[in-house]
Amino acid sequence: MAEKYKKRAAVRSQEQIAGGIFSMWLEAGPIARAARPGQFISVYSNDSGRMLPRPISICETDIGKGTLRIVYRVAGKGTEEFSRAQTGDSFDILGPLGNGFPTERCPRGKKAFLIGGGIGIPPMVELAKSIEGEVQAVVGYRDELFLTEELSAQGKLYVATEDGSAGTKGNVLDCIRENSLSADVIYACGPTPMLRAVKAYAQEQGIECWLSLEERMACGIGACLACVCQSKEIDEHSQVRNKRICKEGPVFAAEDVEI
Ligand SMILES: Cc1cc2nc3c(=O)[nH]c(=O)nc-3n(C[C@H](O)[C@H](O)[C@H](O)COP(=O)(O)OP(=O)(O)OC[C@H]3O[C@@H](n4cnc5c(N)ncnc54)[C@H](O)[C@@H]3O)c2cc1C
Ligand code: FES
Repeated sequence: MAEKYKKRAAVRSQEQIAGGIFSMWLEAGPIARAARPGQFISVYSNDSGRMLPRPISICETDIGKGTLRIVYRVAGKGTEEFSRAQTGDSFDILGPLGNGFPTERCPRGKKAFLIGGGIGIPPMVELAKSIEGEVQAVVGYRDELFLTEELSAQGKLYVATEDGSAGTKGNVLDCIRENSLSADVIYACGPTPMLRAVKAYAQEQGIECWLSLEERMACGIGACLACVCQSKEIDEHSQVRNKRICKEGPVFAAEDVEI
């Protein structure tokens, strides 16, 4: 596992890219260099009243510039504070955290589904850039689209929207069926009901499947057990049937976790 770094990261730029969705580039050279797709950073508030960091996936990195990008939805006080930051402001960040997606499972000659739902879409950008096989990004939105340019630059892009305003009306699996798509491996990140459905689809079709779980977290480094999920095997650390999403995850083989 790559080393992790805690650093004060300056905001290089920030913009709103959809309703309530923000894109921020941070100066974080060592973290950007060490990161692999599907890993995340912990972003600390500058308000001492909010001690716990907020986990946010690494959307993409620019190693030449020593920067990394996060794309996040304003959910509560922490992300609301981040959304007010401007170029030159800074935050303490820790990362890269978690295990990331096994990109080697989709070498040249194989096809992957990169399935993202809502705020599970951002990590798919760096993943799409890193996979050697064929990228088919299948992304689901409630209504407004974001990160479509970045994804279509790396492969084929298929969109589903709940309200039918773009692409397939329905969810990501409706979109796969409507377009008669197939793949050798699935990488997915998004809300739990979507991941549950993707897991069932992968089992039914006999496709290898990797899921990134975005559970609520506290410490973010494996120390507090706030983020456990149920696993098939007994965990070495806790000696019970669970795994820490921040440490052993957030990416798991679908058959290894109960969701
Ligand atoms: C590994 C990981 C990666 C993540 N990556 C991203 C990302 O790339 N972009 C992004 O927008 N968000 C991401 N999240 C979710 C993000 O961490 C939360 O939205 C954020 O911590 C909320 O903080 P807050 O202070 O704004 O809201 P809070 O006041 O802490 O919470 C506001 C509301 O959001 C809910 N909430 C908080 N955390 C989560 C969560 N993990 N899942 C579902 N609901 C939650 C709370 O229950 C509450 O209803 C990720 C979470 C994890 C664990
Ligand atoms: S958040 Fe503390 S163990 Fe995962």
